[in-house]
Amino acid sequence: MTGAEHPVPPGDPRGGAPAGPPDDASLDHSALAGMGSGLEGVFITFEGLDGCGKSTQMELLAGGLRERGYVVLVTREPGGTPLGEAIRDMLLDPRHHGMSARAEALLYAAARAHLVEQVIRPALEDGQVVLCDRYLDSSLAYQGYGRGLGSDDIVTLNVWATECLFPDLTLFLDLDDSLRSSRLAAVPDRLEAEDDAFHMRVAEGYRELLLAHPHRIHRVDARGTESEVQKRVRTVIEEEMELFSH
Ligand code: TYD
Repeated sequence: MTGAEHPVPPGDPRGGAPAGPPDDASLDHSALAGMGSGLEGVFITFEGLDGCGKSTQMELLAGGLRERGYVVLVTREPGGTPLGEAIRDMLLDPRHHGMSARAEALLYAAARAHLVEQVIRPALEDGQVVLCDRYLDSSLAYQGYGRGLGSDDIVTLNVWATECLFPDLTLFLDLDDSLRSSRLAAVPDRLEAEDDAFHMRVAEGYRELLLAHPHRIHRVDARGTESEVQKRVRTVIEEEMELFSH
């Protein structure tokens, strides 16, 4: 058997996860704890502060999985579709400094709704492995904590936007500030240009999410070389999903 034929390993660790949306759509932080997508494929999201190296690690992981025969879709948020990329341009454009927090949360959710409907859900239904650079934990950390909108409304908004599509596994790439800032672009985008207090609230948000959802969100030490970090990434993937041993 190759992964391409059947990406979810036998003895799927997600066994027992309820398929389809839960009864109460107003939900609910329990959905974030590791309910998973309930679909045939595997949905893995990558999170972290700006400049933590997510994109590189995702590409390396995608390469490794493809070598083993999996069909892998790599996408990002906001973006991943022409509409999503247009929304991304609006969100990151420094000229929109001062955008209202609620408008910001809605635009991220709008991009997500479109990406889920048009790209992620079909790929998961098709049995693919989907790797997504940021997902709703980013909205919880940046809009919920960073902008102070709170978790409850962000969860409710995103339960609706995604029609209850949650990741099976989330990797949080943890890198300290001094190492991250050396990787940031010379011209900061609108979010990167926010003050230190905002970024400290976002970091605090991620810490809270890690504590609240230890079964779904796994911290990966992002210090060291690309291959050292990739090894840690694959260790988590292997322990949680056994994608490399098949
Ligand atoms: P991006 O350049 O993709 O950042 P990175 O390379 O660090 O992933 O820009 C995305 C920015 O949008 C990033 O600052 C995080 C922010 N963001 C939110 O505030 N809320 C969200 O829901 C998402 C998906 C991203």
